[in-house]
Amino acid sequence: ASLQLYVDPLPQMSTIKGFSMKGGNPSSVNLTIGMYQTTWKFHRDLPPTPVFVYGTSAENATFPGPTIIARHGVPLYVKWENHLPDQHILPTDNTIPTAIPTKGGVPTVVHLHGGVHPPQSDGSAFAWFTRDYKEVGPKWTQTTYKYPNVQPPGNLWYHDHALGLTRANLLAGLLGAYIIEKPEIDDPMDLPCDNDDLHLIIADRSFNADGTLYMNSTGNVPSIHPEWQPEYFGEVITVNGKAWPFLNVSRRRYRFRILNSSNARYLKLSLSNGLPFYVIGSDGSYLAAPVTTPTIVLSPAEIADVVIDFSDSPTPCVELLNSGPYPYPNGISTIGTLLGKVMIFHINSEKVFDNSTIPEKEVAYANVTMPEPTTKTRYIVLYEYTTPSGEPTHLYINGLRLEDPATETPKSGATELWHVINLTPDNHPLHMHLGMMQAINITELVGYQQFFDCMTQLNDAVKCNVTDHAVGKTLPVPEYEKTWKNVVKIEPGYMTSIVVAFKLVDTNQTYPFDATADPGYVYHCHVSIPLSFFFCETGMRVISIS
Ligand code: C2O
Repeated sequence: ASLQLYVDPLPQMSTIKGFSMKGGNPSSVNLTIGMYQTTWKFHRDLPPTPVFVYGTSAENATFPGPTIIARHGVPLYVKWENHLPDQHILPTDNTIPTAIPTKGGVPTVVHLHGGVHPPQSDGSAFAWFTRDYKEVGPKWTQTTYKYPNVQPPGNLWYHDHALGLTRANLLAGLLGAYIIEKPEIDDPMDLPCDNDDLHLIIADRSFNADGTLYMNSTGNVPSIHPEWQPEYFGEVITVNGKAWPFLNVSRRRYRFRILNSSNARYLKLSLSNGLPFYVIGSDGSYLAAPVTTPTIVLSPAEIADVVIDFSDSPTPCVELLNSGPYPYPNGISTIGTLLGKVMIFHINSEKVFDNSTIPEKEVAYANVTMPEPTTKTRYIVLYEYTTPSGEPTHLYINGLRLEDPATETPKSGATELWHVINLTPDNHPLHMHLGMMQAINITELVGYQQFFDCMTQLNDAVKCNVTDHAVGKTLPVPEYEKTWKNVVKIEPGYMTSIVVAFKLVDTNQTYPFDATADPGYVYHCHVSIPLSFFFCETGMRVISIS
């Protein structure tokens, strides 16, 4: 039986202030946040679901975890504690490169996604730890992470990043939102604030009748990897941990920070009565000016910061819809199905006083300044690869695996131009740790098969004459993505050219910490599938900064 729509109210996660006000000045705090096994009610008619979630205690751990509100320029220290049991609640597969503790327990490590912070606080996949730090991974150094919050104000999130377990740990609930605020920039915009500034953290999940999370545990190549399945796509859309919730709103403007925290599902969002989104920012930054759009496409891990003005609503209710096929963009349609619905807003009939605005201008640094001619240009090719032994398809980046020596070696402070070529049939969300990105050009590949064949032989885009192939039609970069981002969607069959900044994009300053230290940073595809080596199977590489 399917779940009834729109019966649970949309909750908001509790917030934790990542600074304290002392004598009128914000100052650093030390937080302790734990990971706990508890249960969570995803729907009125579903039994409580066992989950792994973040909280300051077992009692207040929630799906998603508490929202952390940090202040620009004020370092925040977080001690991350693992209180998880000996056994995972979801299937895991030790035949892939995975954190495997010898004494039991669930390996975890926390990554602040989009954060500009030292490598020791980045949450390396190899810096995992089990309950009470009983056992730690080879790159583990410290219990307490430092987040300097030196980057521009924006929308980040924190989530698990343990080697080979990220997909299961995220699916179990180890994720939460993180905001960097900067009053000098935020306040003059007069955006909707406080109770009118809300998160919508969207995640698809499947459930068994007893309420437990469902993740397929039998492989279609079980002799090699017992758990192999294609991408995880859940049958239920949850927002802030509730299946298809409702929210009562007033006839006024609201700000929504929308995060797609699904493992693999892309969302193409729209409002059922034609109301537009006023997009004010992305994951990493505000825009130069708001962009009005009827639809927004969000890949896994992508964030849109939007204003919706319900005072313009021609109807008393409006549904948030999803028309994104899965896999994206050529998979199964969601239109007219339950997966095509996300949540509903009920609009109170009375008009209320609203002193918020949609600003005319936002931040100047949102516009990319083209890199100088000396800038390094790189070609990054994503392609799928099957071994002769029948090993299931893996996604590789330039034919290399995570453990191969680093080939992306930017200088701290540099701006680079990366041409990312997607030879797979699906869109992939490219995510980079530390660096901020902005797509500037999307050009179709001509002679795709010839280029593909050459790449599988030579693994070298230049030797395979990529510039002769990237000459087809161009797609526009959506206006609402023209700002600094942590995730960029890479269209299949196209070359997407991205400016990558390894510096603070608002001031052009270099990082005020040592970005070259061990264990370094990674970039990867942010789709996580049951058999993943990590995200997007093997699609993860080390960035070595010098
Ligand atoms: Cu959102 Cu490497 O992660």
